[in-house]
Amino acid sequence: MKLNYLAVAASLGLTAVAQPTGTCATPSKPDTFGLVAIRSGDAVQYAGFNAALRSIFAGLPSQNATCDGTDDGYATFYLKDGALFLYGPNEQQLYVDRSGMGQGKIGYTVSGETGPRNGERTGWAINEDNHLQFDGSDLIACPNSIDGAYSIWASAGIDNPAGNSNCVGIAARVEKEAEPTSCSYSTSQ
Ligand SMILES: *[C@@H]1O[C@H](CO)[C@@H](O)[C@H](O)[C@H]1NC(C)=O
Repeated sequence: MKLNYLAVAASLGLTAVAQPTGTCATPSKPDTFGLVAIRSGDAVQYAGFNAALRSIFAGLPSQNATCDGTDDGYATFYLKDGALFLYGPNEQQLYVDRSGMGQGKIGYTVSGETGPRNGERTGWAINEDNHLQFDGSDLIACPNSIDGAYSIWASAGIDNPAGNSNCVGIAARVEKEAEPTSCSYSTSQ
């Protein structure tokens, strides 16, 4: 009798232990990635993407993000239903403004801000070549931005957006990050 009881208790115990581990899934992390500019023969080649001052850059010497850990100097992104986000403790979502005013401006808003009137939130995708595109088009890098970096634009059919010059089309190569650093990217200087 006693042995039987213990056997039953043990089997119940095992069931009780097995159930919570099965049902309590660990919070899922998004598939995060960094981006690298690809344009062979141009100085922008292999420049990593950064996020700062509500804009996206490549080749910034310092993005000055506030991170959980050390800022590695590069922006970490993830996609959700065609929308693009920066990985961090609060929501930081990208938009593209292809209007006459925006000319392909890529910016980000924080914590549910609405963003510009003509801002588009979805249209981002990784193509079969592992390049991040917006609305099926590659991105644009314009030299001589802040701290000698390139500013990054979406294509609005304008080769040199917003009065820039010597801009080049780039592929934004996706580099998966298994252990991303969570950062709040700067919103002002
Ligand atoms: C980062 O901080 C340094 C020092 O204050 C400044 O010179 C630089 O312009 C900042 N960069 C950005 C992108 O804000």
